[in-house]
Amino acid sequence: MGRLQDKVSIVTGGSRGIGGATVRRFVEEGSKVAIFDVLPEEGEALAAELRGKGFDVIYQTVNITREEEVKAAVANVIGKWGRLDILVNNAGIPGVNKFAHEVTVDEWDRVFDVNVKGMFLCTKHSVPQMMKQKSGAIVNFSSIYGLIGNIDLPPYHATKGAVLMMTKTDAICYAPNGIRVNAVHPGSTMTELFMKAAESYPQGKQAYLDMMKEKHPLCLGEPVDVANCVLFLASDEARFVTGASLVVDGGYTAQ
Ligand SMILES: NC(=O)c1ccc[n+]([C@@H]2O[C@H](COP(=O)([O-])OP(=O)(O)OC[C@H]3O[C@@H](n4cnc5c(N)ncnc54)[C@H](O)[C@@H]3O)[C@@H](O)[C@H]2O)c1
Repeated sequence: MGRLQDKVSIVTGGSRGIGGATVRRFVEEGSKVAIFDVLPEEGEALAAELRGKGFDVIYQTVNITREEEVKAAVANVIGKWGRLDILVNNAGIPGVNKFAHEVTVDEWDRVFDVNVKGMFLCTKHSVPQMMKQKSGAIVNFSSIYGLIGNIDLPPYHATKGAVLMMTKTDAICYAPNGIRVNAVHPGSTMTELFMKAAESYPQGKQAYLDMMKEKHPLCLGEPVDVANCVLFLASDEARFVTGASLVVDGGYTAQ
């Protein structure tokens, strides 16, 4: 019996990185999983690989900033599997690496569109089914930078603070419906997003990596390290946990 046996889950941004690792852990624990992403090649390849191992996985191209796409994709998942138990709002982008006075309104809007509006739209269209079932678990991706600041990526950090507050508020709003809403706050984890942030650092990629290694007592994380924490929050083992912030940062924010 898996820890997510017979659950139906949506993982946004599940084609690669932390989302991809989450998809893998979820199917290993018995969940059916729908990947929502804008990377069809990677997403289809992951879904096909996992189906080849006997798991139930589909990939759907869904730009989470577009309400009609989100609405249709969620309806498709419910139509296919008859229920929806878990939503992992993982998809995110780093946005531009400039100080606030240099950021254009378009650049600001772009990162908020994906990291905040996308999470809102997926929540909006998933919650009604969870309300009908009187149960559900939503895991939102904040960051250590939803808790503390750093000398990079100001618009990104602002989005991650917004994710934290939406998590707490939704946790309170939906508790009467049996829906739990929690946040994870990863530290630096070896993915394409992290490498993109490193490459855009004004002092260069190596300087960024050195700075980040220095700040994490346990060094840098792997995607599965975060995925295991998402798994806990999504599972019934966390049935008394809502509105919580699970920090997964190798000790960064303990200092
Ligand atoms: N990697 C880190 O160090 C780190 C640290 C803290 C928080 N996070 C957060 O973890 C989450 C996953 O990040 P990652 O490092 O795995 O990044 P990643 O770039 O490897 O994966 C992000 C995924 O989101 C998808 N995505 C982007 N825009 C989308 C859109 N509009 N619609 C649908 N899908 C979209 C991408 O295609 C990609 O598959 C993000 O929310 C990120 O902010 C990452």
